[in-house]
Amino acid sequence: MRTTVNFSGRSLDYSEEEIAVVVEAMRDADPLTQGRYRDAFEKKFRDFCGAPHAFTVMNGTAALELAAQLCLLAPGDEVVMPSHTFTSSAYPFARHGATLVWADIDAQTRVANAETIAAVLTPRTKVIVVVHLYGYVADMPAIMALARERGILVVEDACQAIGADIGGVMAGAFGDFGVFSFHSHKNLTTLGEGGMLTVREKRYADIIPMLRHNGHCPFPGERADYWIPAMGNVDFPELDGRRLWPANYCLGEVECALGAKQLDRVLAINEEKRRKALAFIDSFADYPELAFHRVSSTRHNYHLLAARMNGSVGRRDDFIRRMSADFDVRCVVQYYPLNRYPFYQKLGFGRADCPAADDFFDHMISFPFQHNLSDAEYEAMRVAARTVLDAQRDEKKQ
Ligand SMILES: Cc1ncc(COP(=O)(O)O)c(C=O)c1O
Repeated sequence: MRTTVNFSGRSLDYSEEEIAVVVEAMRDADPLTQGRYRDAFEKKFRDFCGAPHAFTVMNGTAALELAAQLCLLAPGDEVVMPSHTFTSSAYPFARHGATLVWADIDAQTRVANAETIAAVLTPRTKVIVVVHLYGYVADMPAIMALARERGILVVEDACQAIGADIGGVMAGAFGDFGVFSFHSHKNLTTLGEGGMLTVREKRYADIIPMLRHNGHCPFPGERADYWIPAMGNVDFPELDGRRLWPANYCLGEVECALGAKQLDRVLAINEEKRRKALAFIDSFADYPELAFHRVSSTRHNYHLLAARMNGSVGRRDDFIRRMSADFDVRCVVQYYPLNRYPFYQKLGFGRADCPAADDFFDHMISFPFQHNLSDAEYEAMRVAARTVLDAQRDEKKQ
């Protein structure tokens, strides 16, 4: 019988304890948003990540939107980010008036590094967005040194890299801002949507609650009655004398309860994924057609398992087509260079000098790699890939 292996949109199965926590929060939480479960998740996340301040939000995109606002962008400011990433690493900065500048990736690690970033810095660069794509932490010590030298802010898009670290410093704890996603596909997911923003400086932390929740704040001074002049005050959050527009980015209590509980096992999930990824990679040691990024340390959490197929683009497409048609194993191709999308072309950011990003995208294969992939699915995928590669080799000989 054929085992179908889907590139599932869902990363994991919840444990009975996690389900019990959700049920408990459904019964107990009062209010159902912005209560004790949120406070507990934020405190636990701070301890986990090592960032001084952490704020739950409804998804990673909301965290990027908040970070973009807090960078106080002005027309002419340039924001550097890799072209090989998910769209919301970039567009919040364009929305707030920045000129986007695409940095190339390193061909081996598939993330930007200090050299590829330095190559596109100008005196107008205000922010660098570093993306720990696939779950691999970019070279943050070198990137932070480069940024600090020039007074540039650093946003770490750690949406895919929860729990990955360099020398014990977690992804998201290096930069001025750290952004996490708890989307359905991630190694930690709060029922499909969720996110966290970490910040280093208190001046940001002081205004995020207002920015996150409609500009709500206390009235100045004592009120004689709790309902006069109104239940709560509303004002603009201000940073360096600039007014910022608030919205509602809050995450519900049930999601927060689950997120806090899941933090207890996210490092074990990362470890299991890393062990499986390394075993998969090593089982293709005799197939140089597939170039994986092999990292045995906790610097990679293997949120995703991607390879470059050496050879023509046609060969890559033939591989994916056969895997799907002959074996029901659905590999995908991810992270269309952002400059190729009409969205960015219409904004005037359609040009990029990023040969490694273009090359990687044109040859990449992303294997199904959700945590709840069964041993049978994993083995079926391994056997299918070897069989297709063998067939391609045989055809090449003829
Ligand atoms: C690298 C990266 N940045 C940003 C996001 C946006 O996160 P969300 O889907 O939670 O809004 C995602 C994930 O979806 C992502 O993978």
